[in-house]
Amino acid sequence: MTTPVTTPVTTPVTTPVFLITGATGRLAGAVIDLLGSRGDRLLLVGRNKDRLAELEEEFGTPGRIETLAADVSDPDGASHAVAEAVGRFGRLDGLVHMVGGFRAGPLFLMNSGVCEDLLRANYLSAVTATQAALPHLGEGGRLVYFSTPLAEVPMPALSAYSAAKAALAAWVGSIAHEVKRNGIHANTVVMTMADTPDKRQERPDLNTEHMVTPELVARVVGFLTGPASDGLYGCRVPVLGKFEFRSDLSGPPPGLGGPPPGLGGPPPGVGGPPPGAGGPPPGVGGPPSGVAGPPSGVGGPR
Ligand SMILES: NC(=O)c1ccc[n+]([C@@H]2O[C@H](COP(=O)([O-])OP(=O)(O)OC[C@H]3O[C@@H](n4cnc5c(N)ncnc54)[C@H](OP(=O)(O)O)[C@@H]3O)[C@@H](O)[C@H]2O)c1
Repeated sequence: MTTPVTTPVTTPVTTPVFLITGATGRLAGAVIDLLGSRGDRLLLVGRNKDRLAELEEEFGTPGRIETLAADVSDPDGASHAVAEAVGRFGRLDGLVHMVGGFRAGPLFLMNSGVCEDLLRANYLSAVTATQAALPHLGEGGRLVYFSTPLAEVPMPALSAYSAAKAALAAWVGSIAHEVKRNGIHANTVVMTMADTPDKRQERPDLNTEHMVTPELVARVVGFLTGPASDGLYGCRVPVLGKFEFRSDLSGPPPGLGGPPPGLGGPPPGVGGPPPGAGGPPPGVGGPPSGVAGPPSGVGGPR
């Protein structure tokens, strides 16, 4: 009679693992909260060690949600971050690339170094992080990026930011076709300014009702990183809240003071838009504080 050989039973750990780059940023907390509550395993990556320590304090759970200091805009830093995710959790299912930078200012006051910085933060970092992550992703893998409507509709004094995000958008549009052949979903959240505490402090002049909440952005990230978005490849998902582009020529939206085209003037006493409906779009009233240069009247949504 032979003695049965007991082989150790290894339970495959199938819980999805996501690398969140730019985890030290303003929007990441809501995303970490949502993906973490869903049970995903997360490696939170950023350069700011103080902020990483706060994230560790708030969300850190060994084997579930961990942090790492690395600069993913550098190819070695990106490779290190991916190797740590795979080494710590045993797999990688996606990249949520939240790295980004923002500066406003008219061209005549802008140092060309700002353009290079914004290209690195908004576009090149996506290239380096994605190149590092891709070899570990397979069928059902997820890549999520963040852009702005200004990539397609640039406004004054936002040239460097708009161009950097436009580069990102075109790049994602292209690679989405490449990676979908392997079942990998690459999509972009196209969002306007988020309602965050520091934005409220920086721009008290803005109507926060026209901003989007980090929680709304997080819900869309949850969708784009989950099975509900299976089959969506290369999509740009607008998360614009009540934001809209306006022009003095177009006047207020129908029903807010102007007659429908061809219907003559408004009834007596119904002349103008209601308070708050006649001005420039949110964020177009002035530059963010601390931004050198833009003349009054420029600056804008992100
Ligand atoms: N917040 C908004 O209103 C808004 C609107 C439209 C689009 N977006 C986009 O949504 C994403 C997340 O927004 P957010 O407000 O959370 O971003 P954020 O706070 O401005 O920045 C996110 C993180 O990017 C990292 N970063 C910046 N430059 C970098 C570089 N050169 N190399 C490596 N890391 C760099 C920083 O982390 P470390 O310094 O720790 O590395 C920062 O914490 C960004 O892509 C942003 O452009 C945001």
